[in-house]
Amino acid sequence: MTLTTKCLSVLQLTDLHLLASPDATMLGVNTAHYFHAVLDMALAEHSAVDLILLTGDLAQEPCRASYQQLLNSLNPLDIPCICLPGNHDDYALMQQLLATTQVNCRKQVFLNNWQIIGLNSQIAGSPSGRLADQELAFLASCLNDYPRHHALIAMHHHCLPTQSSWMDTMMIENSQELLALIKPFPQVKAVVCGHIHQVMDITTGSVRMLGTPSTCFQFTPASPHFSIDKAAPGYRLIQLYANGRLDTRVTRLPRPLVGLQLDNEGY
Ligand SMILES: [Fe+2]
Repeated sequence: MTLTTKCLSVLQLTDLHLLASPDATMLGVNTAHYFHAVLDMALAEHSAVDLILLTGDLAQEPCRASYQQLLNSLNPLDIPCICLPGNHDDYALMQQLLATTQVNCRKQVFLNNWQIIGLNSQIAGSPSGRLADQELAFLASCLNDYPRHHALIAMHHHCLPTQSSWMDTMMIENSQELLALIKPFPQVKAVVCGHIHQVMDITTGSVRMLGTPSTCFQFTPASPHFSIDKAAPGYRLIQLYANGRLDTRVTRLPRPLVGLQLDNEGY
């Protein structure tokens, strides 16, 4: 295998919405069951995973029991996992409980000549997102300090519109600041998010803006109002090459969700 074909494999899992009890459901869906189903499928399909990237809304009920379930599932895998907060998460509790050598809330990870940068886009008490000045400063320092490393940036909220107006009221408020910040850094190859519970793949300049299905329920693309979609849960594989190339694809479970209630007006 030549240097240009050898690649790193990053699994993105997002919007797990775990509940305190692994038997509990939301919108009729057992979120713990489907998180495990997606994780098991991903690991069966990819034997050599270098990093698992969890991009927020890890818990719908952000309590010890929810995060402990997650830790119990990930810690034995022998794969580094980094956990970012979503609007439903308790970041302080995440940082307290998801704090092992293997599973933690690190914001910067180096894999060969790539750096993966995780940002906190949470506004406490709000479903919307914002990158605080300290997050933008952290990103700038990562990019300035490691100009020879290709960069993958991750956060929970989306920074480009989805064309789903209710969802876009909750995108990163100051996304223009993010886009302006990364523009002078050609090593930035992609920005990956969760939150939107659907696929996004838009290229802006030389940067791919990626969104990923939830491991549980999905939102209907281009819907002007809250709407649950029948699409199956899934994950994203991101392959990072030494020459800066990035390949990615989404894979979904082969069957639709069992128990999904489509007639909800919110969650
Ligand atoms: Fe979510």
